[in-house]
Amino acid sequence: MELLIKNGTLVNSKGKYKADIAVTNGIIEQIASSIEPTNDAKVIDATNKFVLPGAIDAHTHLAMPFGGTISSDDYFAGTRAAVCGGTTMVFDFALQDFKESILDTVLRRDKIAAPQAACDYAFHVGIKDISGNLMSTIDDAVKFGVPSFKCFMVYDFGVNDGDLYTLLEYSKKVGAQISVHAENRDVINVLTKKFLSEGKTSAYYHYLSRPEFVEEEADKRAIAFAKSVDAPLYIVHVGSKGGIKAIEEAKRQGVEVYAETCPQYLEFTSDVYKGERGIDFICSPPMKGKKSQDALWDAINRGVVDTIATDHCPFKSFEKDWGKDDFTKVPNGCAGVENMYPYMLSEAGKGRTTYEKVVELCSENPAKIFGCTKKGFLLPGYDADIVIYDPTKEFTITNEKMHSDCDHTIWEGKKLIGYPEKTFSRGKLVYDNGEFLGEAGWGKFVKRASRFEK
Ligand code: URP
Ligand code: ZN
Ligand code: ZN
Repeated sequence: MELLIKNGTLVNSKGKYKADIAVTNGIIEQIASSIEPTNDAKVIDATNKFVLPGAIDAHTHLAMPFGGTISSDDYFAGTRAAVCGGTTMVFDFALQDFKESILDTVLRRDKIAAPQAACDYAFHVGIKDISGNLMSTIDDAVKFGVPSFKCFMVYDFGVNDGDLYTLLEYSKKVGAQISVHAENRDVINVLTKKFLSEGKTSAYYHYLSRPEFVEEEADKRAIAFAKSVDAPLYIVHVGSKGGIKAIEEAKRQGVEVYAETCPQYLEFTSDVYKGERGIDFICSPPMKGKKSQDALWDAINRGVVDTIATDHCPFKSFEKDWGKDDFTKVPNGCAGVENMYPYMLSEAGKGRTTYEKVVELCSENPAKIFGCTKKGFLLPGYDADIVIYDPTKEFTITNEKMHSDCDHTIWEGKKLIGYPEKTFSRGKLVYDNGEFLGEAGWGKFVKRASRFEK
């Protein structure tokens, strides 16, 4: 036994209970009401603390070429920030190059990630090109342990409806799962052109060029395609009331559709785009109105939302400034990987949801949905990815205290009740009371089960 966590209160989606956890070789060996330490064990007293499974952030963009630059956290900085916020695994988006096989995309990105990652990681491949025989190369990626793929229904490199439909149909045959970034590209382009021609260029026009129905419409379209071929569908970063309503209705009809939302949609509204640094909040989809925000919280508490993830995609202030006079020149995305678990748990502490729900959405469900068979739960045989959380500690987010390489955070000044005290990645202490203790290269690629193997 290398580690024994004693006297803590364990939390899972079903409830809380007091127990000790013994860890051997990075794996949870035993959970029981009282475990005696062996001589070699490091003993941690977790009295009055919650003991949680590490969060799994199923949506990050590390060192991603995007918006005319590269997102400012590489795999080291991004995973360093992750563990300092209690996240012990990230799913990063590996964007396919045109004409590149899907497995080559994974291998190309893994060469960069493997020496840098400070926590375990997996990839979703962002698909751009299925011409020729490229679609069949999905099979190799699935066999390699990457059974999830993202289709962008927006951006100039995104897929068209025909390709999305074809991919959904194909995914089912090979045990894979398709995610979509759902917004109506054509409507956004028309409105963007109109606003620019009228000289309406401030950050608020980013929101107005993507009115709330563009997300709802695309959600419905993707759901219709998935339903028609009976394929599973995961919708990333859902922010709108109409979208969540459409997903709820599809679930009611028996469609296997999963909804992910992000902390930024739960905390901020489109009003942020009217502020002095509105450009810092530019991400896509944009923050929505208050009704959408309320609908998201309601959907969380009624079990309609399946996962919380961050869409962590930071850009430095000088890059955001490219769009001071033209919102279309702002690289889209914000930092968040260090804030997700602390924010959601703090909201639970304030009574907006429950700790059990946060563990379900931030840890258990991403593990289940994406085929991580040894992650997401505090159970014997599972990886010892563990967070010791102090529910009473007061913490104010400032960029200075964050561990990302970005020079600002949209979360600046946010007051939290409760904060992670320690994070263990496969039994190794990687974060302790504000200090990162991990190392580049510690994180391992997580080979995942296909839908046939789950
Ligand atoms: O604004 C965002 N979300 N940037 C990252 C790319 C994406 O659409 O997820
Ligand atoms: Zn997206
Ligand atoms: Zn994203």
